[in-house]
Amino acid sequence: MNPPGQEAAAVGVRLRTMTPHDLEVVSRLEPELFGAEAWSPATLAAELDRTTGPGADRAYLVAHLEDAAPAGAADPQEAAGAPGPGAADAEPIVGYAGLWYGDGRGDADLLTIATIPAARRRGVATALLNALLTAAADAGCRAVLLEVRASNEGAQRLYATHGFKAIGRRRRYYLAPVEDAIVMRRPL
Ligand SMILES: CC(C)(COP(=O)(O)OP(=O)(O)OC[C@H]1O[C@@H](n2cnc3c(N)ncnc32)[C@H](O)[C@@H]1OP(=O)(O)O)[C@@H](O)C(=O)NCCC(=O)NCCS
Repeated sequence: MNPPGQEAAAVGVRLRTMTPHDLEVVSRLEPELFGAEAWSPATLAAELDRTTGPGADRAYLVAHLEDAAPAGAADPQEAAGAPGPGAADAEPIVGYAGLWYGDGRGDADLLTIATIPAARRRGVATALLNALLTAAADAGCRAVLLEVRASNEGAQRLYATHGFKAIGRRRRYYLAPVEDAIVMRRPL
């Protein structure tokens, strides 16, 4: 059993519950990761508001890498452990994800998931997804649904690896740029 807010993850990836203290960093990462479809700081704050209290219906996690060298550390001094430009933030957020689980009686919905480019293909999204699948199952949900851009083959492969199957297509679901969404579902 993990202490509250500390989720089990793959070796080298540490997950924890996203808190309001993370909003500044996550708001800065959003446009880098999602371009024109980035969520605004206000949207992120509203999402986080729904993670606690009696009406809580969603969960957000952030991921850190436990390496000595922070992912993407461009400064060799920093990578070697000496103080560098990012030294104050010794364990930066390298990914985050959110899930809506509602009242637990229906299907959950994966709301967002992203890993910073410097930390990709190291299992960060896998760890986040596994933890949110567990959260959905714990809430009583029967399955997890998600939408993914038709052109986003990397994400689709990630989801397929975790048992998601394409069940439909939503025409022009995304706006910037306009593109169809593939709807995927994974029974729990
Ligand atoms: C999609 C994304 C979340 C993957 O994050 P990640 O931390 O690199 O994923 P993981 O390391 O856990 O990858 C696990 C597996 O998924 C598949 N995968 C992930 N990214 C892939 C890519 N770009 N191309 C092909 N397969 C990919 C692989 O099978 C991978 O296993 P492998 O590295 O052993 O081959 C990340 O690329 C991202 O943030 N993209 C921008 C935001 C985004 O598109 N989010 C999804 C919105 S629906």
